[in-house]
Amino acid sequence: MFPIHRNRRLRTTESIRSLVRETIITPNDFMFPMFIAEGKDIQVEIPSMPGIYRRSIDLTVKEVKELWNLGIKAVNIYVKVSDNLKDNTGKEAWNPDGLMQQAIKAIKDAVPGMVIMPDVALDPYSVYGHDGIIKNGEIANDETVDALVRMAVSHAEAGADFVAPSDMMDGRVIRLREGLDKAGFHNVGIMSYSAKYASSFYGPFRDALDSAPKDSGIEVPKDKKTYQMDYANRVEAIKEALHDVEEGADIVMVKPGIAYLDIVREVKNAVNVPVSVYHVSGEYAMIKAAAERGWLEHDKVMIEQLHCIKRAGADIISTYFAKEAAILLNQ
Ligand code: PBG
Repeated sequence: MFPIHRNRRLRTTESIRSLVRETIITPNDFMFPMFIAEGKDIQVEIPSMPGIYRRSIDLTVKEVKELWNLGIKAVNIYVKVSDNLKDNTGKEAWNPDGLMQQAIKAIKDAVPGMVIMPDVALDPYSVYGHDGIIKNGEIANDETVDALVRMAVSHAEAGADFVAPSDMMDGRVIRLREGLDKAGFHNVGIMSYSAKYASSFYGPFRDALDSAPKDSGIEVPKDKKTYQMDYANRVEAIKEALHDVEEGADIVMVKPGIAYLDIVREVKNAVNVPVSVYHVSGEYAMIKAAAERGWLEHDKVMIEQLHCIKRAGADIISTYFAKEAAILLNQ
């Protein structure tokens, strides 16, 4: 008690503060989400995500080499599929020569150490912009899971280290585990988007992939609330994470990040596997927009948020800031 304890003593100088600092972030903590486009020599900036590009495979590979040299060891891969390849079965998702499969191979060839975590969900391949197959106006759980298994196995065949189901169908983790094992991919891991909320913070991402749920004439849900979680819920996140661990998830994810750090801590305390957090597109866009207006100090806010995510319990942070933050941290 005061005056025996003067808590400010430990804050006196930067040297003392750095001695007692509880949370350290390094580029090894980050995964970088990347958007892949068809073609060659293509690099298109996403308007709602300044500094983030959709790139063709050749330029993606170049970027991945840079990330590797900065100390970033993992990438999340998302593809922008042309409209003529979209349908309600998602079959392009397991085309062995599809854009995703080609991207995985090219990255593996160029930077074998880079951990590749392709997204497993049907939305980029769906005419309706949904993560699953539509049947009788609903997102059909079990049919979708069958499709996801084929998709994940094709990712493994292309050389993925992990598959990352972001679809929120029930039972997909166990079915993916069984499917991967049956195909001989015992060492391909599963990072499950376990507590993924139906969030409006994904807007810029859906711009990037043109993957927002579409008004398509037939009776299809206009949002993802029948599979992604209600943002009002907390206990449900723990249930989802525990189920996924039981089903064989190697890593569980909470998404979004900053607005959901209470959930991150709860999940971290509940599970015995690493927890990853997705600092999502809308969270990125907010900082960029405020900084553009001179309302926030970009680098300071970025570094603070990344610390806060780790302090809350993240072992891994998937963030569009990975490259910029790595450059700063390496200085
Ligand atoms: C698709 C997917 C989404 C994100 C990651 N995977 C969008 C969605 O569920 O609608 C969002 C990521 C972000 O906003 O940065 N299954």
